[in-house]
Amino acid sequence: MPKVHYAKPDGTQVVIDGTVGDSVMVTAVRNGVTGIVGQCGGTLSCATCHVYLAPAEHDLFDPPGEDEDDMLECTASDREDTSRLSCQLELREGMELHVTIPDEQV
Ligand code: FES
Repeated sequence: MPKVHYAKPDGTQVVIDGTVGDSVMVTAVRNGVTGIVGQCGGTLSCATCHVYLAPAEHDLFDPPGEDEDDMLECTASDREDTSRLSCQLELREGMELHVTIPDEQV
């Protein structure tokens, strides 16, 4: 079972057991993890699912596609090298991810 550690802006952490095939965004929203909004439902049109992925885990995913890369220019908090839109991060079996939720999403 995949697992996601969410580090919130207030310094607290939440660990959620996820489901293979779900995104990091859906896992957060479904489990009431505040700070990830997911306004567009994962259609790459809002950038309210912005997270910072742990640097060591960045290579677990393909690089952002063109649409995600464009939307990452619209995040409310600064884009960093490890910025991703969490609706594009799909959980796979055995994954244990660590993401940091930015201060602002809108
Ligand atoms: Fe809207 Fe990810 S949920 S871009």
